[in-house]
Amino acid sequence: MLHDVASFLRWNLKSNRWAVKGINTLRDLPSRMSENVAPSPPSPLLDMLVSDGYGKLPHTIAVPEIDVSPYAGQARNKPFVDITADYLDVVEKAFVDILADPETAAMIHGYFEGRPWLWNVALNYSEPREGLTDSQLWHFDYGDQRQLHLMAYFSDVGEASGPFTFLRMEDSQRVARHPFVIERMTDDDLANRFGIDAKAGTVRLTGKNGDLFVNDPGRLMHQGARCSTTRLVMFVTFTSRAPMSSGGRRTIAPAARKRLGAAYRQACPDGLLAPEVFG
Ligand SMILES: [Fe+2]
Repeated sequence: MLHDVASFLRWNLKSNRWAVKGINTLRDLPSRMSENVAPSPPSPLLDMLVSDGYGKLPHTIAVPEIDVSPYAGQARNKPFVDITADYLDVVEKAFVDILADPETAAMIHGYFEGRPWLWNVALNYSEPREGLTDSQLWHFDYGDQRQLHLMAYFSDVGEASGPFTFLRMEDSQRVARHPFVIERMTDDDLANRFGIDAKAGTVRLTGKNGDLFVNDPGRLMHQGARCSTTRLVMFVTFTSRAPMSSGGRRTIAPAARKRLGAAYRQACPDGLLAPEVFG
């Protein structure tokens, strides 16, 4: 009980997120003043992301077949297991292949006014599991005011594989946000409070192995879908340099972030994303 209360206060109060953002903004101030930010080139992908909050990237990447059988059972009690450590080279190559596309780099750059920050890279394995979790209710993420999830499918993701499921921007914007608490809602809540038919307006990002999608889970009301098949998806997440939670520094080690940045810079010496993005 006490644990539940403490956990609620820690994760569900917006004031905590804004406090962390305030501290991060102060920390970021010196580099904000001194950094030379390249102008963002025009990007149709960026326009799509700003207006719709999601999209499919026009390019795909080649991904190797990965045998997930050694992980069977490991994600039964959690939403996913990050298997990056077993596939460092594969993840690094996919990461570079995603960002090497100048349109994609321009989208990331422009979405954060030239100063994005690599929050996390993870190759997540999911499998069917029992019980509902909190994140399977409708919610907005509060990682930052703007956040970007690039998703690279390492397996075909069909209806049964728990694709990212969300309401279109116009419906998401009709959900009035509570001023203090990060809420989670059922289909009935959406219908009764906002007149939204969650079933009719839902988008599911199904796709094929090698497909790339982008979305901002802070602007689109979404739910963690349940999967009845296994699924392997690589997530590359960006925030501003002053995110609302310290999770990014906790999830990916500074050395790993620098290594990924160096691989990108080596493949794209003139790439738009500066070393500070990976700092
Ligand atoms: Fe979420």
